[in-house]
Amino acid sequence: MHSSSKIKQNTFADDVMRGLSATPKFLSSKYFYDNEGSRLFQEIMKLPEYYLTRAEFEVFSRQTDEIFSAFNADNSPFDLIELGAGDGTKTSFLVSYFLKQNADFTYVPIDISAEALNTLTAKFEKEFPQLLMQTEKGDYFKTLETLSTKSSKRKIILFLGSNIGNFRQKQAQEFFRELRAVMNKDDLLFIGFDLQKDPQTILDAYSDKQGVTAAFNINLLKRINRELGANFDPKEFSHYAIYHPIEGAARSFLISQKKQTVFIKSLNKNFDFEAWEPIFMEISQKYSLKMIAELAKESGFQIEKNFFDSKNYYTDSLWKPV
Ligand code: AVJ
Repeated sequence: MHSSSKIKQNTFADDVMRGLSATPKFLSSKYFYDNEGSRLFQEIMKLPEYYLTRAEFEVFSRQTDEIFSAFNADNSPFDLIELGAGDGTKTSFLVSYFLKQNADFTYVPIDISAEALNTLTAKFEKEFPQLLMQTEKGDYFKTLETLSTKSSKRKIILFLGSNIGNFRQKQAQEFFRELRAVMNKDDLLFIGFDLQKDPQTILDAYSDKQGVTAAFNINLLKRINRELGANFDPKEFSHYAIYHPIEGAARSFLISQKKQTVFIKSLNKNFDFEAWEPIFMEISQKYSLKMIAELAKESGFQIEKNFFDSKNYYTDSLWKPV
């Protein structure tokens, strides 16, 4: 997890090679979001079990004015930079309100999916013709440095939707430290954290009845087939999710249903799977308020305010550099 420009970014092929050669095998969830994966994630957000999106939407819709006041305390112009903007669903509510308040801002969505950014651009141009927008396609690690050099305006950085959950705790701390390093005193960071709650509620969100989450995971094998010329048989892998209440971590695996060998043409290599061998696919970390407070402190921030939904399932936490 490096953002330094000196370090060459791994390609999809490099990462697949590394992950499937390791013991235990793993793949990175950052590769879930090709066009089909982005579409499946949009389906996930509509699932009855997937409470996260609705919880965050409730925060935004019920506390819009409080959020706006916290962002716009001194009325100075700002860049509203969103890391992992996706199709913009998360943010359109805030953008709409800010425009109505005549806030002076430019919306800068960053995402690794071109498809998602195109959807976002089309939607926002139509819905908000007066909005100043500057889209950036890329890994947010790469864009970190460019953020600070591009504009001298105040930055409000959004990292919503519990995207932080895909980092292990140590990586999260590193990530926030790197963000802190490119932020000025009057910049703000607004982060969506999924909170620890009834473990069954969490587990259900990652093993939905309709199997959309399973399809979302399996799609990464199909993507390897499509882009790297592999011969994964998706029917021979099944999705398995767990939640560990002490760590507060939900994890997803794909389990090989039998002993099998998969050939990946671009890597010119066979990969052997034992019967019931897992591939670790994704972590979705859930936080306690104490963990959030520690994380803020350790990475050079103070918490201005936590905004909660009515069930206390989720918080959007506003951080200020110390
Ligand atoms: C986009 C990382 C927030 O971990 O909840 C949804 C992705 N994975 N269902 C999450 C996801 C399985 C999601 N994030």
